Amino acid sequence: MDTQVRIAPSILSANFAVLGEEVRRAESAGADVIHIDVMDGHFVPNITVGPLVVAAVRKMTSLPLDVHLMVERPENFVEDFARAGADILTIHPETPGHWHRTLQQIHGAGMRAGVALNPGTSESVLEYVLSLLDLVLVMTVNPGFGGQLFIVEMLPKIAAVRRMLAAVGSVAWLSVDGGINMTTAPLVVRAGADTLVAGTAIFGAPDVTVAVTALRSVV
Ligand code: DX5
Ligand code: ZN
Repeated sequence: MDTQVRIAPSILSANFAVLGEEVRRAESAGADVIHIDVMDGHFVPNITVGPLVVAAVRKMTSLPLDVHLMVERPENFVEDFARAGADILTIHPETPGHWHRTLQQIHGAGMRAGVALNPGTSESVLEYVLSLLDLVLVMTVNPGFGGQLFIVEMLPKIAAVRRMLAAVGSVAWLSVDGGINMTTAPLVVRAGADTLVAGTAIFGAPDVTVAVTALRSVV
């Protein structure tokens, strides 16, 4: 087992009626990070939560909050999420704004900065922002919904990002998001991922503790 691999449960698949309990359950189960998916109905065809829910989750856990912004204008919300208590803010380069500047804005607001790549986006877009990155999130499904099938063609992309980070001595986390389960987790870790985002495989399981432990045991 690689003890370096972080498990990041995505609350998208949690029971929002008892979200606080779900987050605490994930923390006691041994999660390393809480992943929060923010969707605006424009960048992705779904709407989820905003800074209010991040602030509520902040009160429930001391784990780092990794906020994945799937919104068209992330630059408009950076300070709101900083105030809400986000630790890592991850944006998509496919958004229309100036995302290099948004990464600087995220650091300026005191957070760590991440970039998420849609399945159709090449890792080459990272070339000129590598020094600004604390996290790279390789999407292994098209963003918008939980419970989708892992896209196996993303494995070489994970390996390519790992090589890019190693080439510049970056210690940025290499996270994967979408369809991560007992079968796919070993594949992405072998390709170079060190952080596993999982919604369905954790909150969709009958027992969150068993699910987190099981995921750890296969990587
Ligand atoms: C999808 C989100 C994911 C989602 C993953 O757009 O970014 O974080 O929660 O869900 P699973 O693990 O069910 O594929
Ligand atoms: Zn996500």
